[in-house]
Amino acid sequence: MPDQEKSLQMTILMTPDMANFAGNVHGGSILKLLDQVAYACAARYCKSYVVTISLDQVTFLAPIKVGELVTFRSHVNYVGNTSLEVGVKVFAEDLQQKEIRHTNSCYVTMVAVDDDRKPISAPALELETEFEKKLFEAAKMRKQLRQEAVKRNREMTADIPDYNSDLIKK
Ligand SMILES: CC(C)(COP(=O)(O)OP(=O)(O)OC[C@H]1O[C@@H](n2cnc3c(N)ncnc32)[C@H](O)[C@@H]1OP(=O)(O)O)[C@@H](O)C(=O)NCCC(=O)NCCS
Repeated sequence: MPDQEKSLQMTILMTPDMANFAGNVHGGSILKLLDQVAYACAARYCKSYVVTISLDQVTFLAPIKVGELVTFRSHVNYVGNTSLEVGVKVFAEDLQQKEIRHTNSCYVTMVAVDDDRKPISAPALELETEFEKKLFEAAKMRKQLRQEAVKRNREMTADIPDYNSDLIKK
């Protein structure tokens, strides 16, 4: 068993309760499972409770059918101070045809928290291979892009009136 458990795999059979109106698996069912596998991967890595702060670059590359066996492969790509990025790749298997397709990918950012749900330090990531170093650098770049997008969006929308302020009771 390695010192740091950075990867986690979860396999689930797609059942009829996960179907959308077209009879394929609902995108929302996949999103829930993406979040669950990222949670399990991050919590096991951190040995603490973790919460999801963002989920991005979710791609639905091909439909998944009810009855298929779906495997979620997750890996801790990057650890900052309190946050970590988990990359998830999804593969669907047609059990009769024995055909396996890459159907989804996404990046989930989780934050390690204490019992009061306040952010705490996540264990520093040991980069053991060239591949892990590349994953880390790419994830670091994505973190910078996320921060830049938040900042630029704030700047560009600063003078737009907030039409939703009536929803938040002061
Ligand atoms: C996650 C949470 C505890 C963070 O608290 P916070 O006071 O906002 O924390 P900070 O601003 O210090 O940021 C914490 C980390 O999140 C990162 N972060 C902040 N905003 C982010 C965003 N939009 N996307 C990705 N990461 C983000 C920060 O970079 C920081 O990472 P670092 O410590 O590795 O540098 C708080 O936002 C929260 O409780 N959110 C709700 C989580 C939840 O309930 N999820 C389930 C949804 S149903």
